[in-house]
Parts: sequence; C-alpha cells; structure tokens
Amino acid sequence: MNRRSLNNNSKLSFVTLKACLWAAFGLALFGPPAGHAQQTRSALKSVTEYAATLAPFIALRPITVEERARVDSGGAPELGNLLRSWTKQPLFSDSVRLFIETRYSFGGNEGGIDHNEPANLAVFLEKTGRPWTEFLTSTSCVDSNGQQKACDSQAPFTAGVLTSRSFLAQHAGAFNISRSAKLLKKFTCQEYPLSTTLEPPVRTADLIDLFSSPNGAITFGNGKNCAACHSQFAKHAQLFVKFDSSGRYKASATGLQNPDPQASGGSSTNGTYVSHFRAPERAQRENSEVFGKTVANLAEAAKILAEHPTYHECAARNMIWHYLRMNDTTAKAIPTALVSDIAVKARALGRSPTFSDLLVTALAHPVVIESYTKHGKRGEE
Ligand code: HEC
Repeated sequence: MNRRSLNNNSKLSFVTLKACLWAAFGLALFGPPAGHAQQTRSALKSVTEYAATLAPFIALRPITVEERARVDSGGAPELGNLLRSWTKQPLFSDSVRLFIETRYSFGGNEGGIDHNEPANLAVFLEKTGRPWTEFLTSTSCVDSNGQQKACDSQAPFTAGVLTSRSFLAQHAGAFNISRSAKLLKKFTCQEYPLSTTLEPPVRTADLIDLFSSPNGAITFGNGKNCAACHSQFAKHAQLFVKFDSSGRYKASATGLQNPDPQASGGSSTNGTYVSHFRAPERAQRENSEVFGKTVANLAEAAKILAEHPTYHECAARNMIWHYLRMNDTTAKAIPTALVSDIAVKARALGRSPTFSDLLVTALAHPVVIESYTKHGKRGEE
C-alpha cells in the first residue's frame, strides 16, 4: 500500500480537506510527533495494520491471514469492503451494543428500568437495514428478544430512544436541564449556548425569576447572564415537562414549582420537573421549538434533530471516538469539516445512512486512514 493509491482513492474534496485537516486531525489524534526523526521512523503504518486494529472492535475477533492478504493487495478500497463485510456478520450486533453502552452510557438494569433498550433498538435498526435517524425517531422500542414493542415511558407519542425510560430516568433532574443538555450533547455534539441563528432564544421576560434576572434570582451568583444559555434551554427542557423522574409520562404535569417547602428547587409535583417558563398556562404545555421550528412534542423535536446535519456528524464523531479508542479531549478536537465530509459521503450512498453506512464511511475515510497510517498507533509516537 503506498501513498499514491491512497490519494487515487480520494474524492475531489479530499485535496482541500486534507490541506485543512491534516495537521489538525493528525496531531489531535495521535499527539504531536516527538521529533522529525522519530516521526519518520514510526511513519507509514500499513493500512493492513489499521484494519488489524479495528478487527477486534467491529468483527470481535482478530483479523485473519486471508483478510490481511486482501488489504495488503487491495489497500484502502479493500479496507472499506472488509469493514463492510464485518458489519454484515452476526457478531456485529455486539459491536453496536458495545458502542451504545460505551459512548452513550446505556446498559444494565437499575431501579426496575431496562437500560439495554437503547442498545436493543440500535441493534434492531442495523439488522433490519433501517436508517440511523430512527434511533431518535423510531415509532417503537425493542425488547431483549429483538421484538418491537411500545416504549416503556408510556408517552402518547414515540421518539425512539428518547421515549425509553432509560434515557429519561438517567438524565432526570431539576428543570429538565440535564435531559435537554444530554439530548443536544449525545445526538448533536453541541453545548449551550448554541448559536442564536441555530436556536433563537425565547424572550428573557418569559422565563422564571431564577433564569431571567442577570445573576440568577436565588443563590447562583456566578456573574453570568443566566438567560444566555437558559433562554435556549427553556425550549428543549419544555419537551420533557410531562416526564417524571423515573421516565414515565404524566399528562397532568403542570411544570410549576412544588409548593411544599421540603421540595427542592426545580421539582414539580408527581415527580416531574419545573418549566423554565413563567406563565402557568405556558409552563404546562410540552409543545415547543427546536432549531427555530415549531414542534408539538418530543417526537416532533426528535425528527428535526435527526434530520439536522449535526446528527450524522455527531454519530460519525462518536464512532471515530469509540472505534479508534480516543480520549475525550482528542475526540472533541476532531475537526467538524471531517465529520461533516463523512456525513455527506454516507448520505451520498443513496439512502438515509444506516449505522454501518456511517461507521464504514467514517473509518474508511481517506483522512482518517491517513491520520492513522502516517502517525502510527496512539501512544507509539
Ligand atoms: C454557559 C451557559 C450557562 C449559563 C450562562 C448558565 N447556565 Fe445553568 N446550566 C448550564 C448547563 C450546561 C447546565 C448543566 C446541564 C447538565 O446537567 O448537563 C446548567 C445547569 C443549571 C441548573 C440545574 C442544576 C441541576 O440541579 O441539575 C440550574 C438550576 C442552573 N443551571 C441555573 C443557572 C443560573 C441561575 C444561571 C445564572 C446565574 C445559569 N444557570 C447560567 C448552562 C449555563
């Protein structure tokens, strides 16, 4: 495998991308080279070695002699074919499951909640060739036997993993702040404050005192303008106003502070949480806006999020993060232009990409391959 065939395999955009990203991604992925001599010595790991590194995490076994020979002679294009073939084997389900458990911290049974449901859904989608967007938009959840079933939150609408008690209970907390922060972070890789072009904030005057006074009404005197972030939180937190702390839907939720003096701030009655909105009439309604678009509920919000470019980009980032065993800092430094290019290429396959479409496109992306083959395995520099 030589440099020329890598480049020949590249699409047009690679030239530009390479120029912009090479240094950033290469250095971010593997750390700055210790020195020129050392860099030369450890340079040019083969594409075959890269494939061998991935095998235990995708095929859940070592690479075979025959597979090595295939990549030795076929180079990067053959790597893509090999990765694809691994995703079609039965054990790939366990790889998907491990990814969900590791990257999204779902798994196990706790407090009577089956935290395997998110992974069940992910595996089901992959096995049935369904698009990865359905992780957020599926109209059913999936049980431990791989059968579709109603989601356990018992909401009158379904939004894949978002209406599983696993997601809802894990991120339950005051004002539904944690749920909205995790929604954005896990599925769009974004944090508050978002750009106001993407998410126009609600009027500060519409927020409860805690978030509308410049320094927070109560004890949050951190000197920051609370509304800078919480006027965007307001919209997303509202989608969860009807879900109690154990992830069950409570149609009667009011979104108002529990008047009991023992109740903690941000807790409403019935185990639900307080809305960011001041007006009681507004506080109790779960309809809201996401990325500037009006939605009736969490399920409609999930559709907007899943169709937004950041959804596939974030999935690609998480996949590189997990499958190349990166640490958090390194993974966050993967350039947006790279994950964006992966998302574009995955969509160019001609269908809404599946989990394996995104995974193969990400790991066989020329910049990702070259980062690995040029700088060597992490920790070896
Ligand atoms: C830079 C954005 C930002 C600003 C400014 C900000 N917050 Fe937050 N706030 C956050 C984030 C992020 C979280 C945590 C979300 C999570 O749980 O992951 C949070 C959490 C909270 C929580 C919930 C704690 C809990 O129990 O879960 C409260 C209450 C809160 N903020 C109030 C305030 C107040 C009052 C101010 C102004 C003094 C303020 N915040 C300013 C971003 C911000």
